[in-house]
Amino acid sequence: MGYTEVYERSLADPEGFWMEAAEAIDWVKKPSKALFDEAAPIYEWYKDAEVNACWNAVDRHVAAGRGAQTAIIHDSPVTGIKQKINYSQLRSRVARLAGALRARGVEKGDRVIIYMPMVPEALEAMLACARLGAVHSVVFGGFAAHELAVRIDDCTPKAIIGASCGIEPGRVVHYKPLLDGAIEQAKHKPDFCVIFQREEEVAKLIEGRDYDWHAFQYGVEPADCVPVSGDHPAYILYTSGTTGAPKGVVRATAGHLVALNWSMKNIYNVNPGEVFWAASDVGWVVGHSYICYGPLIHGNTTIVFEGKPVGTPDAGTFWRVISEHKVRSFFTAPTALRAIKRDDPKGELIGNYDISQLRALYLAGERADPDTIEWAQKVMQVPVYDHWWQTETGWAIAGNPAGMQALPVKIGSPTVAMPGYDVCILDEGGHEVAPGTLGAIAVKLPLPPGTLPTLWSAEGRYRKSYLTTFPGYYETGDAGMKDEDGYLWIMARTDDVINVAGHRLSTGAMEEVLAGHPDVAECAVIGAADALKGQAPVGFLCLNTGSDRDRAEVVREVVTRVRDQIGPVAAFKLAVVVERLPKTRSGKILRGIMVKIADGQDYKMPATIDDPIILDEIKSALQSIGLAK
Ligand code: COA
Ligand code: AMP
Repeated sequence: MGYTEVYERSLADPEGFWMEAAEAIDWVKKPSKALFDEAAPIYEWYKDAEVNACWNAVDRHVAAGRGAQTAIIHDSPVTGIKQKINYSQLRSRVARLAGALRARGVEKGDRVIIYMPMVPEALEAMLACARLGAVHSVVFGGFAAHELAVRIDDCTPKAIIGASCGIEPGRVVHYKPLLDGAIEQAKHKPDFCVIFQREEEVAKLIEGRDYDWHAFQYGVEPADCVPVSGDHPAYILYTSGTTGAPKGVVRATAGHLVALNWSMKNIYNVNPGEVFWAASDVGWVVGHSYICYGPLIHGNTTIVFEGKPVGTPDAGTFWRVISEHKVRSFFTAPTALRAIKRDDPKGELIGNYDISQLRALYLAGERADPDTIEWAQKVMQVPVYDHWWQTETGWAIAGNPAGMQALPVKIGSPTVAMPGYDVCILDEGGHEVAPGTLGAIAVKLPLPPGTLPTLWSAEGRYRKSYLTTFPGYYETGDAGMKDEDGYLWIMARTDDVINVAGHRLSTGAMEEVLAGHPDVAECAVIGAADALKGQAPVGFLCLNTGSDRDRAEVVREVVTRVRDQIGPVAAFKLAVVVERLPKTRSGKILRGIMVKIADGQDYKMPATIDDPIILDEIKSALQSIGLAK
């Protein structure tokens, strides 16, 4: 069947389509139907089924006689470690860890925070939670203690599983002091912590609260898989919204199993047994869906890569990994390729490796610029497929269904809507616009399986953030258009979310940190174009009237403040002090115009602007830091 037929069927007969896709999953109790719409606009999939995610990702492959197949390859150029774990070993390791967690009281429904770098133990921790029906919430290592504390208070975990350290090129990231600091800041206290001690740094454990990873598991009874209902939360993953409070995206178990399994062949075109690599981090949605769950559910080999595209040791690392582990499909963010291209513009290093078994490159996480796509096509000699999705959806909203029918690539477009996503472009009044016209991108409800049913203990916020602007639709927060052939074009966010090196960040959260500085009266943060990272945050600070503080010093202080409170991942390095911010007469800060000025683009003077002279001041302030050229 071709794409059009499959897609149309998914919308015309969602029950038939998704019940058929569900046959690829091992159920303890099969669902009686796919969609449960009694509480619309809150939808649930396979709610009356019973299932276990860890069984589907691990045990069933062992039961099917594939225990000797490699499940996880850990390739860590930053430590020199290369390790393979087969499905049988993975099962034993996960069952033992789950047993130890259970012995300390972790049960179905309890939350467990995981704060770990790119080591296989991070996946094992996720799977051990899934085995017990505990709800994990992985926090990215590049976040500071405060961000971790916010997540601890929101999901109130019974336990935290951490590592002693992470390794960034040139420095050891001391995870344990960050974790201790976060627990101290948080109101909620976990019952206990389990710490995976790494050779690079052994952390001090707090007696009575912290357990060593290995000692903790000594002599315990391994745990079997605990069946959960289809709508049981598999995990919570926090993502940036407009304010400083992150949104806890909930992933329901059954829909996520069905959708991810479907995507592995139809989108990523891999067969069970083949090697699939997503070069992301377990702290992001790509890490959840396509380092951990997707490839394992589908019986692939997944790679846990602990390194960077450049500098570990050079811009040929990705090609080395693809060649050495015989990767068939590779997924990364455009930023990573831009970094490689910057170090090795002609792509000469690829000549040192045989990557002929690679079928295709998949890009997502941020807009894929045509230069990067063309460069990748040229040096890698494989099709390059951009695809578009979000933490909220858990898998592609739009992509090129290469495993079903590879569609012609239009550079700059993530191709077409995936099954179950009825993607519409709407004007401000919520009416569909004509092909080629820019509008807000929305998806007619219900969203397909695998997408978020709600936000963690914040259904009101879920409804307000996603379902209110366009009743009957899910608001993606992206703007774009659809062309005559149904191809989507993603242009920009409609909110204050920016995308820095494929990392989703909230300018609102950064503004909250800047505003907390005692000398700052008012502030704004925008995302300016950055040749490597796509966007980079830039702060504008108005100091208190009469402040005689040295401006450069205040700038240094706010940069440190953002690093300390949000984390290095915010990559907040640029800020300027200005007298005033450009505003409309009603007091709204004109961030859009500031972005255009920073990027050296033409802009239209808004009729509602309070005082146009301010824009010249903004321009010269930006020029002083090398922008607005
Ligand atoms: N733990 C601790 N710190 C981390 C971290 C982690 N897991 N990940 C990143 N950081 C730190 C970095 O060390 C850096 O710190 P610095 O300010 O001291 O240099 C800071 O956060 C910013 O990181 P990043 O924006 O990633 O920049 P970089 O200069 O370290 O690397 C790239 C640039 C392009 C090589 C890198 O961003 C990259 O590989 N991007 C791919 C993005 C990606 O995979 N995204 C996932 C979505 S698909
Ligand atoms: P995240 O939730 O971190 O995955 O970020 C999701 C956001 O990243 C989307 O809403 C888009 O703004 C952006 N994004 C992701 N993939 C793409 C893509 N292929 N093209 C353009 N923007 C993208």
